[in-house]
Amino acid sequence: MSDYGGKAGDSSHIEEIGTGQKPKPTFGTKLKRHYKRFWWLHLIFFICFTLIIVLCLIYLAYPHIAQQGITASTLTIQSLILSSPTLTTFHLTQTALITNNNTYHPHLDAFNASISLHSSSSSDDTPYAQITLPSIHATRTATSSVNQTVQITNLSAFNAYSAAVLGSESVELRVKGRTKLHEMRFPSTVVDYDKVVRMKGLNSLTGFSIPSFSIKLPPDPTDGTNLIGQIYIPNPSVMTLEMGNLTLTTHISNTTLSLGITHLTNLVLRPGNNTLPMRSTINQTLVVSSLLSGRYPDGVLPVDIGVQSVERGGVRLGYFEEALRGVRLGVRLDVGRALREVGVDVGGGGGGGGK
Ligand SMILES: *[C@@H]1O[C@H](CO)[C@@H](O)[C@H](O)[C@H]1NC(C)=O
Ligand SMILES: *[C@@H]1O[C@H](CO)[C@@H](O)[C@H](O)[C@H]1NC(C)=O
Ligand SMILES: *[C@@H]1O[C@H](CO)[C@@H](O)[C@H](O)[C@H]1NC(C)=O
Ligand SMILES: *[C@@H]1O[C@H](CO)[C@@H](O)[C@H](O)[C@H]1NC(C)=O
Ligand SMILES: *[C@@H]1O[C@H](CO)[C@@H](O)[C@H](O)[C@H]1NC(C)=O
Ligand SMILES: *[C@@H]1O[C@H](CO)[C@@H](O)[C@H](O)[C@H]1NC(C)=O
Ligand SMILES: *[C@@H]1O[C@H](CO)[C@@H](O)[C@H](O)[C@H]1NC(C)=O
Ligand SMILES: *[C@@H]1O[C@H](CO)[C@@H](O)[C@H](O)[C@H]1NC(C)=O
Repeated sequence: MSDYGGKAGDSSHIEEIGTGQKPKPTFGTKLKRHYKRFWWLHLIFFICFTLIIVLCLIYLAYPHIAQQGITASTLTIQSLILSSPTLTTFHLTQTALITNNNTYHPHLDAFNASISLHSSSSSDDTPYAQITLPSIHATRTATSSVNQTVQITNLSAFNAYSAAVLGSESVELRVKGRTKLHEMRFPSTVVDYDKVVRMKGLNSLTGFSIPSFSIKLPPDPTDGTNLIGQIYIPNPSVMTLEMGNLTLTTHISNTTLSLGITHLTNLVLRPGNNTLPMRSTINQTLVVSSLLSGRYPDGVLPVDIGVQSVERGGVRLGYFEEALRGVRLGVRLDVGRALREVGVDVGGGGGGGGK
């Protein structure tokens, strides 16, 4: 360092002395020189560093990011048609909307998902069926369509599902499975799909009524039907339920007096307002004697409706029977008016009996 006689070419000395003809090299020039000499070392370091980052991304961060994307996506059922029910199967036609707010739009393989009724109280929901979700390209909004015959894998779990669908204002379904996710040229990664979907139920058939009916005189000679009318069932859900043939019992409310049997043939409850034909065989002797008893002076009988059977293709569908039994259906029937219409005036005190 103290050598003043360094050659001009010896840069290290010039640097130290700083009094030569050449200007003092700046930090930048030093850096340049350093890189010129050790570029290969930097290149190796850069490659290793990049490789580590990329490998970390691919094998550690990417599956995690992919899983987070799936977890953040939402599933909304737009329509659900349950048709051709048997004791062990039903046909499912369903459209669902998947929203994915992520900037990347991966591809998901088709996979088998279990569906269960989600209850907040129990941690493990028992699936009642398995459905095959088709492969989808998860753009911002993607539609997933299902059209398949589904096996009921657990009848008691399906009973609980049917009861919840008919008896609740809203139900939560859980769709759970595992699939492969593909994004650009990344290796495919396995993701868990586990969504809880909230949807409206049939809310205990609230609003059920018999908007019109009339007495059939003489009764139908083939099956004895002596009252025909229409029932009204609102369905606030997006679900279509094909149930089959319903046989309903009718009793005068809070009594054991059976009024008779009502048939609903090939019942299908569609979203919205359903107005469907009904055919009843009622005990007219009981109706007339009830009105004459003076207990129903306005001619209106309060009637409780129960479910005797739900049948399709000669098979009783216990899950629908139980679900409907969990729903209390009561109507008020203006039988006084209906009887007057066919020329039978049971008088009573009501007189007018308009409503
Ligand atoms: C996605 O974005 C839309 C509009 O930007 C918003 O309404 C929606 O709630 C978002 N969904 C999720 C799951 O974040
Ligand atoms: C779904 O399950 C069925 C029966 O177990 C099987 O045959 C089918 O290959 C599965 N589908 C997928 C996409 O895993
Ligand atoms: C469902 O598939 C059946 C045949 O398997 C077809 O007849 C029917 O039109 C399909 N329904 C829908 C909504 O795609
Ligand atoms: C069927 O579901 C019920 C609950 O609904 C559960 O207790 C039972 O263990 C399940 N059976 C099978 C075979 O998974
Ligand atoms: C039947 O009995 C219940 C409970 O006692 C009562 O709340 C209801 O109003 C009664 N219904 C009719 C139609 O009398
Ligand atoms: C169903 O009926 C209700 C009341 O009767 C009415 O307000 C509603 O608009 C109807 N809905 C449809 C889809 O017709
Ligand atoms: C009709 O009701 C009356 C009075 O309750 C009863 O005596 C009669 O047995 C009933 N008829 C039938 C067919 O149930
Ligand atoms: C319902 O009953 C009618 C008449 O008894 C019959 O023709 C029809 O096949 C039945 N429907 C079903 C789905 O079983």
